[in-house]
Amino acid sequence: MAVVSTGFIVFDLCLIIGAAFLAALVYFKHSYRYWKVKRVPYLEPTFPLGNDEYFFTKSATFAGEAKSWYDQLKARGHKFGGAWSFYRKVLVLVDPDYIRDVLTRDFHHFANRDMFANEKFDLQGCHLFNVRNSHWKPLRQKLTPTFTSGKMKMMFESVMQCCDHLVEHLEECAETGENIDSRKTLSSFTIDVIGSVAFGVDCNSFSKEESDFRKYANLFFRPNFLDYIRLLCLKLFPDLARKLRLKIGNTRRTKFFRDMVKQTIDHRIQFKVTRPDFLQLLINMNVERDGKEVLSFDQIVANTILFFVAGFDTPSTAMNFALFELARNPDLQEKARQEVRKVMGRNDGQTTYEGLREMTYVKQVLDESMRMYPPLLTLSRVCTKDYELRNTDIVIEKGTSVVISTLGLGRDPEYFPDPERFDPDRFSAEEKAKRHPYVHIPFGEGPRNCIGLRFGVMQSKIGLARILSNFRLSVSLKTKLRINLDKKLFLLKENEPIYLKAEKL
Ligand code: HEM
Repeated sequence: MAVVSTGFIVFDLCLIIGAAFLAALVYFKHSYRYWKVKRVPYLEPTFPLGNDEYFFTKSATFAGEAKSWYDQLKARGHKFGGAWSFYRKVLVLVDPDYIRDVLTRDFHHFANRDMFANEKFDLQGCHLFNVRNSHWKPLRQKLTPTFTSGKMKMMFESVMQCCDHLVEHLEECAETGENIDSRKTLSSFTIDVIGSVAFGVDCNSFSKEESDFRKYANLFFRPNFLDYIRLLCLKLFPDLARKLRLKIGNTRRTKFFRDMVKQTIDHRIQFKVTRPDFLQLLINMNVERDGKEVLSFDQIVANTILFFVAGFDTPSTAMNFALFELARNPDLQEKARQEVRKVMGRNDGQTTYEGLREMTYVKQVLDESMRMYPPLLTLSRVCTKDYELRNTDIVIEKGTSVVISTLGLGRDPEYFPDPERFDPDRFSAEEKAKRHPYVHIPFGEGPRNCIGLRFGVMQSKIGLARILSNFRLSVSLKTKLRINLDKKLFLLKENEPIYLKAEKL
């Protein structure tokens, strides 16, 4: 009897799975007609991944695919085109005029990012990067004063102090002739910086092998198997996921940061301590106005975490590749060093806030590094109101995802001839004036661009200036000749470590 009923259960299960598969097949196949019906050029999809071929093996985001989508459409002479992520339609922008329309001119149709956000139940749904619809603008307005020139100047000293630890570390490596793991060294520096300016905490990243900060920060970028499954559900069924209160975040890492922010706020209130950091600016903002809080505790926590995560990895990527390229191009390295020394010479041998602005070649080095290796590989938006693409009769419907490949643009030979060659002169004022401004957008563009742009540039320039003025760098023999990029993450990384050698000057 038991064998018979088990047989029925298995049979029923197979029927249900088979029916679900068939229903999905029919639904997906129907979706795959979408761009053809609209007469939009498209990339041929395959069931069930659409054009998101690398989802399981390589990429949890559009990051890896976006460049290949860009290249394929560009090669066929299209200015835009359609693709699918599983059954969801995606519009891929190729032409910089359309990119400008979406990011800036017609921003009100594309104010949201295509990120899953659950504002009510997930701490990560209420930070600036993920927040949607009417929640975004007021939050952006509240946080913008955090990044004025006055505040940057205030944080300059904290960055310089963290730089002292970086220079000390490199001095030790230079003395012993040790190979320097460039990524690890620079992310220790940027973790120290952002720990200090975001939380007012000394992360001490150079003295500990793996600080708690580094451990939990890295968890944001290394999804495990369960994270993948969760991401898949969020991606495929966002509305259902919201109803089920699914969260993007890993609770362990969120708890770590939440507890730390709480302890820091309590400490500051109890002992009346104030510090020149982001957290303090958010606390100060949170005075009662007409009985209404400016920012809730959860918003303070979420945005401090966001500043930490957004602020440590991106500048370390920009600096990492800049140093790598300078190390293998000694003449360009010398040119940058001469500029740093000249500017420092005018300021009593010091790196000053004002002096940084005069380091235009160092900024060109940074720009060229972010052209070849944009820290954020794609920009994403979602259409929130039906929209007619300029000079066409094509209407992009509400709910359509839009993807822009910063890597695709940066490596496009039409804008950057011989794109694999590192050449900071591409970013001289004269060369820049010859190009469409939207082909180099490592910080995004328009009202929803990177809010931390000035801080990111400042800390990267300080780091580069201090390293170049103190050390001559070369690439260690331990570094692989060809560096492959790991495109499975939202943020760009190299697949194999870059090792450098430093010589004290
Ligand atoms: C080299 C350094 C950095 C790079 C390359 C970078 C890049 C980006 C990019 C590409 C975006 C998306 C823009 C768009 O969709 O148009 C972004 C958004 C953002 N970035 Fe950065 N970023 C950097 C540093 C920072 C720092 C230091 C912070 C904070 C301390 C920060 C905080 C943010 C935030 C909060 C957003 C979301 C803005 C919004 O949605 O309104 N970033 N960043």
